[in-house]
Amino acid sequence: MNFKKYIRDINDFPKKGIVYKDISPLLGNSEAMKAAADALVENIKDQKIDKVVGIESRGFFMATLLAERLGAGFVPIRKPGKLPYKTFTESYDLEYGTDQLEIHQDAILPGERVILHDDVLATGGTAEAAVKLIKKLGGELIESNFLIELEFLKGREKIKTSPVQSLMKF
Ligand code: PRP
Ligand code: MG
Repeated sequence: MNFKKYIRDINDFPKKGIVYKDISPLLGNSEAMKAAADALVENIKDQKIDKVVGIESRGFFMATLLAERLGAGFVPIRKPGKLPYKTFTESYDLEYGTDQLEIHQDAILPGERVILHDDVLATGGTAEAAVKLIKKLGGELIESNFLIELEFLKGREKIKTSPVQSLMKF
């Protein structure tokens, strides 16, 4: 399937000079969404996977579909103050300043086999922080996957200690 035709470019969002890759058309089309989830699990579907980790908020949309396909549980990584139980926290750099991500301390057991999913790999700061949280809990990261990779930002470099897969490269 030509997934790129379901991605809408929005100029100057969220601020001037940024071209936002809007995945809403893909999510809104049942065939495209199903095909995207199928494609993301294609090379790992015969492996034992314990957990799929999705990153708030746009990573959540597809991550539960991947977990269901892989026979795995779903684990949310969230922005600060959202998770109710005991958490571990990682900071990451934004264009201006820093932000943080959190995971429940008991979300992944040592040695569990984990897939990380987010919608977009841009600078890689978000994914790098998520990878650190997974490793802190002792998870074995089998693959990080993304619907979209903005290759010119070289985010892949930050998480290349394990395999990285993206459905669409721009
Ligand atoms: C966007 C996107 C990725 C991240 C990629 O999330 O959904 O999670 O940025 O950027 P990076 O590779 O440069 O870190 P955002 O923080 O805008 O939040 P959202 O998912 O809640 O919209
Ligand atoms: Mg996000």
